[in-house]
Amino acid sequence: MNKNKNTANQLIAEATEILKSNRKNSYTEPSKLLYPHQWLWDSCFIAMGLRHIDTDRAQEEIMSLFRGQWKNGMMPNIVFGESGKKLQPQRMWQSQVSPYSPDDVFTSGITQPPLVAEAVYKIGEKLDPKEKLIWFRSNIKELIQYHEWIYNDRDPHQEGLALLLHPWESGMDNTPPWMKELHDGLTPKWIEFAHKLHLDYFYGFLRLDTKFVHLNERLSNVDAMSLFDAQRKLRRKHYDTKKILGHNSFAIEDLTFNCILIKANNYLKKIAKSIDQKIPKELALSMDMSIKSLDKLWDEETSEYYSRKFETHELLKISTIASLMPLYSGVIDRERASHLVKTMEDHNKFSTPFPIPTVPVNSDWFNPDSYWQGPTWINMNWMIIEGLKNYGFKEHADVLTKKTIELVEHGGFSEYFNPITGDPLGIHDFSWSAALIIDLLKN
Ligand code: GLC
Repeated sequence: MNKNKNTANQLIAEATEILKSNRKNSYTEPSKLLYPHQWLWDSCFIAMGLRHIDTDRAQEEIMSLFRGQWKNGMMPNIVFGESGKKLQPQRMWQSQVSPYSPDDVFTSGITQPPLVAEAVYKIGEKLDPKEKLIWFRSNIKELIQYHEWIYNDRDPHQEGLALLLHPWESGMDNTPPWMKELHDGLTPKWIEFAHKLHLDYFYGFLRLDTKFVHLNERLSNVDAMSLFDAQRKLRRKHYDTKKILGHNSFAIEDLTFNCILIKANNYLKKIAKSIDQKIPKELALSMDMSIKSLDKLWDEETSEYYSRKFETHELLKISTIASLMPLYSGVIDRERASHLVKTMEDHNKFSTPFPIPTVPVNSDWFNPDSYWQGPTWINMNWMIIEGLKNYGFKEHADVLTKKTIELVEHGGFSEYFNPITGDPLGIHDFSWSAALIIDLLKN
């Protein structure tokens, strides 16, 4: 066995150990310390790693997510574990204020990027042909309801682009375009006032995340307070999108979310086809429209894709790693894909010693330690690697895979990493870092 193979096996063994220790009943917690529940896109990434080592557990991970699916099809970003007494986060969310929330499980009231169809499909690839069809048949109804909800609820003007109501829904909590929206008028007056009097300092004592992770690697206290306040507003409106829209709240057609949706639609089509299931006509039309609508997020002037405001259609022209995500969507033409690859290789933008930074280094927002405002995340690299492979940029995909693996060799299975030094940041033993490294090494 050569050295590389040894290293790979060792990393797989360590990653498997992390996934074992973060396991809680039917699902895997993103982190035992910091995120002790089931999270939507985390579990999809986790299942895609688990499929290489334990297909039963990978299937269980996804079925456990469906426990939390709402009666209108919504998949919540957090499904809370069974617990005798009501936990503080359950009190915070009170999912039961919505008539659509499940009767027997507590969940959050918002969603996260839709990778479920991809996870279902990729688990299927590891099953024998008969089992695969059974697996697909057992999930198709829920998947269709889920994608129908995205369009019915989050694309009210039928534009082919889904809108999000809270930065947490993007999965990239403090990503600059969302934070700019917050700072440009969505920070509540009382929080601004508290900030002026430095009272937000005391809020720091109430935060769970900064008990484990240094404050400069997380959202500032004032931003964190504002996001909790925005969540309370959604709860007061019973998580009803129609009641929420137009009331001075976040409403953004997020670029990453929509690229993931387009990709997921494609996987849903493949699953449906293999079991001769018809996709409802309206859903099929919406899916086609999304492919065309991605172009509305392209800005000719700066040659870049951006997120967009739902109400005004104004592009939020701040560069982030989202601008590379159309590669993952797989539906842009080759010329645009090559352009994105060049952007990725640009030393003034995304080409750092430990790529890919979540914000380009030449941006005023770039901070190599701050959560989604600069650090490198394994899940984003993984999606971009998928995109590169899909467009035939094999060498680029191989280099990025190698560098992504180097990150964990250097800094362990951390939540995120400094893109300049490679130093680990956030919580350690993070489940999706472990799972996706297994996937990269096994593919
Ligand atoms: C943080 C991340 C989000 C993730 C969650 C659980 O909120 O920003 O993407 O799903 O933690 O790991």
